[in-house]
Amino acid sequence: MLQQEMADMLNKQLNREFFSAYLYLEIANYYSDQGLDGFANWFTIQTQEERDHAMLFRIYLLNNDTHVQLMEIPAPNQSFSNPKMPLEAALEHERYITSHIHELYAEAHRLKDFRTVQFLDWFVKEQGEEEKNTNDLVKRFELFGEDPKGLYLLDSELASRVYTAPSLVLD
Ligand code: FEO
Repeated sequence: MLQQEMADMLNKQLNREFFSAYLYLEIANYYSDQGLDGFANWFTIQTQEERDHAMLFRIYLLNNDTHVQLMEIPAPNQSFSNPKMPLEAALEHERYITSHIHELYAEAHRLKDFRTVQFLDWFVKEQGEEEKNTNDLVKRFELFGEDPKGLYLLDSELASRVYTAPSLVLD
């Protein structure tokens, strides 16, 4: 069983991952409304990945005989006035999530909870990838997204993204 302090932090992170899924669904909805189905596809897959992250925290808590405390998920309440804004919001959000993963990691070390450290290793790496992917998208939008043809091609490319399950498997 995990120490209570660690369990509370992991439960809060589970909630944040579900909020991330909710935020990216809001973004996918925005792009669908705009007729940018490729961007909508990219963020719908992002939503699936965030749900997976939340479920990994759930499985880890359960596997360690620790109560899973489900909490309210706030509404994203975002409003976007151009197609670049959601990308910047997503990047800011990923940086926020990274800061929390690092806090968890530091706390697990402080508590000498090395099993949790090992579990979180995957998330530390994953956050590096998530930030890079989102930052790349912002940069590519800045290069091509203001031009209608460029935006069309970028949207077509993002339409080809397919969902793959996370590489971290807990049994
Ligand atoms: Fe689960 Fe995008 O962080």
